[in-house]
Amino acid sequence: MAKVFPNLKSHYHNVILLLSCGWSCTIIMILYFETTRMPLTRNPVSKPAACINHTCAPDREPEDWFCKRYAPTVQLFLNSRNSALNANVSKWWMRLFGTHGANYTTLVGNLFQLLPDKEHNSDIHPHRCRTCAVVGNSGNLLGSRYGPLIDSKSFVMRINRGKTKGFEEDVGSKTTHRIFYPESYWNLENSTHLVYFPFKVADIEWLIRVYTMENKKNIAEKINKDKLMILHPGFMKYVHMNWTESHGNYPSTGFLTVIFALHICDEVHVFGFGATQNGSWHHYFDKSLTPYSKTNHPGHYEYETISRLHSEKKLLMYKGWT
Ligand code: C5P
Repeated sequence: MAKVFPNLKSHYHNVILLLSCGWSCTIIMILYFETTRMPLTRNPVSKPAACINHTCAPDREPEDWFCKRYAPTVQLFLNSRNSALNANVSKWWMRLFGTHGANYTTLVGNLFQLLPDKEHNSDIHPHRCRTCAVVGNSGNLLGSRYGPLIDSKSFVMRINRGKTKGFEEDVGSKTTHRIFYPESYWNLENSTHLVYFPFKVADIEWLIRVYTMENKKNIAEKINKDKLMILHPGFMKYVHMNWTESHGNYPSTGFLTVIFALHICDEVHVFGFGATQNGSWHHYFDKSLTPYSKTNHPGHYEYETISRLHSEKKLLMYKGWT
C-alpha cells in the first residue's frame, strides 16, 4: 500500500489539515456574521427604513395636502428668548380667555426667573427612528388590548387625567410624557417629561404660584422643573389655523398633542381618539359623556384630520374596539 501510494500518509495529513481548517473557517465566518448582524437586530434606533417620513420641503411640494399645513420650523416651546408674542399670535391667544388685567410680559419674565432656561429641541432625525405613542382618553380603548403595542414605543405621551393603573392591558403602563394644564394636573409623576399647555395668561400665573406659594408645595413637588416644557402659544395658533382650519374655538389638548408629536417624533402612533357612535366624548376611565357640541373643540373635524393623516401615511391611527 505504502508503495502504491507513497505519499498516502502526508495525503491523509493534508486532508485532516484541510478539514480542520474548513471547520474553524466556518466557525470564524459564523461568528463574524453574528457579531456584525447584532447591532441591527438589537438596536431599534437603527431601523430608519421602518420609519414614516413626515417631513417635507414646502417649496418642493407646494400642493401636497400635508406640506401645505406642516410648518417644520414652527416654535414649539416657550422660553425667555422667544416669549414676546407677535401681534397675530397675541390677539388669537388672548381672545380665548382674555387677560383679566394681567400683564403677560411681566408674568412670563417672572416665570423664567423661576425655571431653568433651557432650549428644548425638536430633533427629528432622518437616521434615527424615534417612535411615539399618543394616547388620547377615548372610551374606544376599552377591550382593545393595545397595551403592549403602546408600551413598545420609545415615547408614550398621555394626556390630562389619562391613567394606566387598572387599564394596563388596553392602555399600557409606560408614560414618558404627560400633557397637562392647570385644571388637569392630577396624574403627574415627577419622573416623566411634563408638557404644559397654557391656554390663557392665567395659566402662566398658576405656574408662578405653584413655585412660589407655600400652599402649592405639594403640586410643585410633582412638577419637576427640569422636566417641564411649556408649549408656545404660537404653536396653538398654528394648529388652529393650519390643522383644524379655524374650526371650533381652539384645538383639543389631544389634537394639539398629535401635531406636537409630528414635530418631535420620527414615527407617530395614535390611540384613544374618537367619540361614541352618537358623537359623545367618552373616557376609558370614567362614565362621563360630553356631546361634541358642548365642547369648545372641533372634535369631528379633528378626528377626520387624524384619519386623513393616517391615509396620507404620516401617522398610524388605531381606532380601538368600541
Ligand atoms: O377628555 P380629555 O380632554 O382629557 O381627553 C384627552 C384627549 O383625547 C382629548 O383632548 C381629545 O383630543 C381625545 N379624546 C377623543 N375622544 C374621546 C375622548 C378624548 O378624541 N372620546
